[in-house]
Amino acid sequence: MSEALCEVGCKAIAIMDVLQEHGDSAALELNKKYNIPAAFYKVDVRDAEAVKEVMTSIAADLGSVDVLLCSAGIADSNMPAETYDIERFRRLIDINLTGTFLCAQSAGQIMIKQGNGGSIIFIGSMSGHIVNWPQEQSCYNASKAGVIQLGKSLAAEWSKYNIRVNSISPGYMDTALNRVPALEAQKKLWCSRTPMNRLGNVDELNSTAVFLASNASTFMTGSDIIIDGGYCCW
Ligand SMILES: NC(=O)c1ccc[n+]([C@@H]2O[C@H](COP(=O)([O-])OP(=O)(O)OC[C@H]3O[C@@H](n4cnc5c(N)ncnc54)[C@H](O)[C@@H]3O)[C@@H](O)[C@H]2O)c1
Repeated sequence: MSEALCEVGCKAIAIMDVLQEHGDSAALELNKKYNIPAAFYKVDVRDAEAVKEVMTSIAADLGSVDVLLCSAGIADSNMPAETYDIERFRRLIDINLTGTFLCAQSAGQIMIKQGNGGSIIFIGSMSGHIVNWPQEQSCYNASKAGVIQLGKSLAAEWSKYNIRVNSISPGYMDTALNRVPALEAQKKLWCSRTPMNRLGNVDELNSTAVFLASNASTFMTGSDIIIDGGYCCW
């Protein structure tokens, strides 16, 4: 998505994640390929102070914060609710939901101060709309329903500042999150239940991210776009 934004003329880009090595190499690649300022900022989205500090540095280093795309997230699959460890449950909510809020809050504060509006895009999931089956993942599903509803709530609150907040809800995508041995057998089942009979490719959400970030979607706020190869159709 960062690369897609660079392709359409984004003037500077900041990547936030906990993975220093991946982040540094992604920023370097974008910097070389698009000849724009691209920088990596290591931050754990659960850490309110650190997120605020990093967002302030980004605005100072790159000039402004106009678009925020919140994608950091983890999944817990095959976790029966009756034995779900509460610390694991809290950790997932902390990363997926509270982390999304903290990033939006600190970017929102800067956008409000800048006075030029902005676009905030959350990555929800079809799991915020439907319950995945057969894997038991109550916490993940609840976290993503929370992310989608959080986006709608912020959209209403911040429309007076011309800050738009929308979300993208992917179906099963072929990313690192799903490239784990424990999910191999289930992936076949997921494909068979997806009318398009495959997982989504990593680049198949990019154009929607660009659309939501850009002036092509100026009357759009509080919306959630499901992109799932038809999974939620039936
Ligand atoms: N892959 C799918 O099938 C799928 C489907 C629907 C929604 N999603 C959502 O898409 C988003 C991206 O997932 P992905 O599939 O690219 O997985 P991914 O594991 O490749 O990417 C998630 C990123 O979040 C980062 N992260 C995790 N915890 C963090 C923390 N505390 N602070 C900062 N960064 C942290 C990870 O380091 C990683 O780079 C997630 O929110 C996920 O829930 C994925």
